[in-house]
Amino acid sequence: MASRKLLLLPGDGIGPEAMTEVKKLIAAMNADLNTGFETEEGLVGGCAYDAHGQSISEEDMAKAMAADAVLFGAVGGPKWDSVPYEVRPEAGLLRLRKDMELFANLRPAICYPALAASSSLKPDVVEGLDILILRELTGGVYFGEPKEIIDLGNGQKRGIDTQVYDTFEIERIAGVAFELARTRGNKVCSMEKHNVMKSGVLWKEVVAETHKEKFSDVELTHMLADAGGMQLVRWPKQFDVILTDNLFGDMLSDVAAMLTGSLGMLPSASLGAPDPLTGKRKALYEPVHGSAPDIAGQGVANPIAMIASFAMCLRYSFNMIAEADRLEKAISEVLNDGLRTPDIMSDGMTKIGTAQMGDAIIAKFRAL
Ligand code: NAD
Ligand code: IPM
Ligand code: MN
Repeated sequence: MASRKLLLLPGDGIGPEAMTEVKKLIAAMNADLNTGFETEEGLVGGCAYDAHGQSISEEDMAKAMAADAVLFGAVGGPKWDSVPYEVRPEAGLLRLRKDMELFANLRPAICYPALAASSSLKPDVVEGLDILILRELTGGVYFGEPKEIIDLGNGQKRGIDTQVYDTFEIERIAGVAFELARTRGNKVCSMEKHNVMKSGVLWKEVVAETHKEKFSDVELTHMLADAGGMQLVRWPKQFDVILTDNLFGDMLSDVAAMLTGSLGMLPSASLGAPDPLTGKRKALYEPVHGSAPDIAGQGVANPIAMIASFAMCLRYSFNMIAEADRLEKAISEVLNDGLRTPDIMSDGMTKIGTAQMGDAIIAKFRAL
């Protein structure tokens, strides 16, 4: 039996509630399919800060580096709003991304047929939607230096964040975008703001060169990121793969979430480069949503983004394509059966909680 080592980092708020459903699913898969998943758990975010004053411990970082894949819930919440910036809950997630070199963040936005009416947009705008936002995850304004608040000495302070991109960072994320596009609709739309940002000028140039040199069979278009946001809500089906930087990707993927019905529906995979010798890549799978303090502890959070993130883990870390497809089909069919957590509830459907949604998806997965 294969050994597959997973580190689970449930985090804060609804993170542990959603992760509980994935734990049940892993147990079911190990029992039914002899999948050999071995899980360990660690602390990240506010709960880690409460336990030892850091948003992730060195020990848990080492476990993340050694695992075949990391499953991450969510971090943050009002309880930690005033802790020092360096140890904020979110810093734990940023450290995982940076230290594991997870530069490619895949955020697919798929509108399941049963949810076309749950989106705030008209059903014909979102029906059948299947796009992929590819967000650069280890560069840009999230990590550029200087990043500080300085005292100007005249009663004024200055807050500085720096947007930085080097050629190799743009080249490697563009390469991933074109390769992914070849497996789907063969189109990439690159979004930046070359009209006001030097990093945007370089981004556009390098994407165009990478395309010309190695991927000219893929259709490439460029769009200013603000117009891209508008086009995402006007007619999202014009897109296949959207390639963009760290900050624009963060914002555009929350916009895309509403095309699918709810932020509780959007999974993601954060991937590193494949090791040249083993072909293995570091990877972390996380829902796009946060810790949702407004609904935490009530047992009503939608666990689908977390469960669909595990489906991405099956696909990208373990090459378990049939099982990933089966899990995504189970999600789709449970929605067809009319089961809904409150965030995707609509007339005539059956309202259920987090655990019931998890149970229904697991039962459907077993039956398929
Ligand atoms: P959020 O994503 O936590 O919540 C936004 C809204 O979406 C809320 O109304 C929430 O109830 C709803 N929502 C989100 N996920 C849901 C789900 N699975 N089911 C049902 N409804 C869901 O964003 P926020 O409120 O802006 O941020 C809260 C905290 O989470 C902040 O501390 C923020 O930094 C953090 N955050 C963490 C991550 C992460 O850990 N990856 C991502 C985003 C935000
Ligand atoms: C996300 C989140 C994170 C980000 C935060 C929690 C650091 O919003 O994953 O979308 O900004 O990248
Ligand atoms: Mn975000």
